[in-house]
Amino acid sequence: MKVPDDVRKDIPLTQEVIYFDNAATSLTPLPVIQAMNEYYLKYRANVHRGVHRLSQRATHEYEKAREKVAKFINAEFEEVIFTKNASESLNLIAWGLEWKKGDKIVTTPYEHHSNLLPWIRVARKYGLKLEFIEGDDEGNLDLADAEKKIRGAKLVAVQHVSNILGVIHEVEELGKMAKEEGAIFVVDAAQSVGHMEVDVRKLHADFLAFSGHKGPMGPTGIGVLYVREEMFDIFEPPLIGGGTIEDVSLNEYKLTAPPERYEAGTPNIAGAIGLGAAIDYITKIGLDKIERQEYKLVKRTTEGFDDLGIEWYGPRNLKKHAGVVSFNIAAPHLAGFRLHPHDIAAILDEHNIMIRSGHHCVLPVVKRLKLQGTARASFHCYNTVEEVEYMLGVLEEVVKSLR
Ligand SMILES: Cc1ncc(COP(=O)(O)O)c(C=O)c1O
Repeated sequence: MKVPDDVRKDIPLTQEVIYFDNAATSLTPLPVIQAMNEYYLKYRANVHRGVHRLSQRATHEYEKAREKVAKFINAEFEEVIFTKNASESLNLIAWGLEWKKGDKIVTTPYEHHSNLLPWIRVARKYGLKLEFIEGDDEGNLDLADAEKKIRGAKLVAVQHVSNILGVIHEVEELGKMAKEEGAIFVVDAAQSVGHMEVDVRKLHADFLAFSGHKGPMGPTGIGVLYVREEMFDIFEPPLIGGGTIEDVSLNEYKLTAPPERYEAGTPNIAGAIGLGAAIDYITKIGLDKIERQEYKLVKRTTEGFDDLGIEWYGPRNLKKHAGVVSFNIAAPHLAGFRLHPHDIAAILDEHNIMIRSGHHCVLPVVKRLKLQGTARASFHCYNTVEEVEYMLGVLEEVVKSLR
């Protein structure tokens, strides 16, 4: 497939708006919508329950989607659990593990709230130690400090890519450190899956979380929790009930094997099938082409921002910078004044450009940089350099108006 042209043909919304809010959620290609429609129109039935042929087909397609996810992240079929989103996946990990007072959890100061709040909560509830790997204002981690902090940790939880700074963290190295210490390694891959290669084995991940609706271009309401087989014995399903058992009497139950053990109740069947189609679609495009296009967009955006004197955040080393560029516009003659990010977003909206503004669910980073928030342009492979040029043109007028 040709990037971005062929992908744009499959996403009608790209003809109507300039969509730069892909870190929040991406646009949906037609084959994904068609796969979900087919489920609703041709074999709408519950999974794992019926012997009739609609239920059989639904089960088959649902499990085929799991197989696709497993192959995509280099996991085994049983290790892939469908959830609602990355947030749910991360919460399930925190609730499903056993904690004892004094256990140490190590994370970073750059995490999305969804990979921070669950750890703060269990730390408070069980008297655990929560420590943060040091890093600079661009989001670059101090790996020597990581090695020190990870010593004696029970669990290490890090994001692959920051949704505010765009920094790509050294998850593979951190995973290796965690494994050498016998710690459980958790990866929040919400901003990386679908944008770059994510291989759970290479990353040494024991758990990995992502959402279908971001990088993979799948529907909302479907997420994935990868659980390494070795964790099955120590990871209890926080939710149990229909579908999770092998046997039940009035006072007892025996849980069934994964993945069903971890999927209580009727799942998001259409969502999983849509995610399967989305993964087929991403595979057809090719992750290398996606990465190359996003790199081009980030390079042009940051160069343009530099020319216009627009502050942008995250690593200057663009090899470490994923397709997420946060920025602010200052007024040179008013010390400390910055246009409110919501105002930037509203101005761009008037020009048909959709970006995100605010704290992006990463308040500790916003506070650390002493900002009220950021404006954020985030890309996918269907975005074009021409769209970036157009945004830069609009922002140039904004910058001029503040001089
Ligand atoms: C790094 C990161 N982790 C977790 C999440 C949570 O994803 P979701 O809202 O789909 O649960 C996000 C969402 O923006 C994110 O960027």
